[in-house]
Amino acid sequence: MRILETNQDMARACRECPRPLGLVPTMGALHEGHGMLVRRARKENKTVAVSIFVNPAQFGPQEDLHKYPRDLEGDLRLLRREEADLVFVPTVAEMYPPGFDTWVDAGALAGLLEGAIRPGHFRGVATVVTKLLNLTRPDQAYFGQKDGQQVTLVSHLARDLYLGTDIIVVPTVREPDGLAISSRNVFLNSAQRRAAPVVYRALNRAQGLWQKGERDAELLRREVRAVLECEPLIDSIDYVSVAAAESLEELKTVKGRVLVSVAVRLGATRLIDNIILE
Ligand code: PAF
Repeated sequence: MRILETNQDMARACRECPRPLGLVPTMGALHEGHGMLVRRARKENKTVAVSIFVNPAQFGPQEDLHKYPRDLEGDLRLLRREEADLVFVPTVAEMYPPGFDTWVDAGALAGLLEGAIRPGHFRGVATVVTKLLNLTRPDQAYFGQKDGQQVTLVSHLARDLYLGTDIIVVPTVREPDGLAISSRNVFLNSAQRRAAPVVYRALNRAQGLWQKGERDAELLRREVRAVLECEPLIDSIDYVSVAAAESLEELKTVKGRVLVSVAVRLGATRLIDNIILE
């Protein structure tokens, strides 16, 4: 496994590696969810590259950039185990050198849901993903369904800007109690951790009703919210959304491929999760 720190070295390694090349972009603090992405990439490519970069451009001024978990040693151990070939670990100065001032505007999608709560977040995501894909030119790039809006947005980005990379979406990995695995779960105290699976239970409530034939989207939103509101450790609900998976437009009637997504706060920790109804 080669570890590369500069754009030049990474670009060269990707140019010269056996194809197909799969890229797994990450912000480090790797867990089983990332393990799944790397394993899928390993199965489908001759070369697997992983980027580890905590992208400051996708954090707001009040957000947890400085607290974001970092564990390069642990990350490299996991990546060796999963047999990654190339690991890109650029510094902030390498990715955003003095004079850097070109940004990717991800359009209307970027202003919805997470984007409404975290202004500028998706501009940062779209910009760094474009940079990483342009630098490495992978055949496939792998993203987790856990960040449901991100995968929709990145798929549109790759399509709209002819990035020449297929975006592969990998299912969410969950703890046995249903909590979606996330780097930020380490911030939950033990009571919050016990309460957190309510998020998945709430999403399952929507799925259960939908399976019984319910198609009123507002009723599903109300029911999801009702389950979340039963948990006293949830301090606030940022949103409950029942939207078309492709456009993220809120629906009146559930039809087609639908993304049910929620964001809640347990103390200082924000949890997001989603399911697809189709
Ligand atoms: O999902 C993430 O970890 C990040 O948003 C990504 C895609 C690596 C961009 O920084």
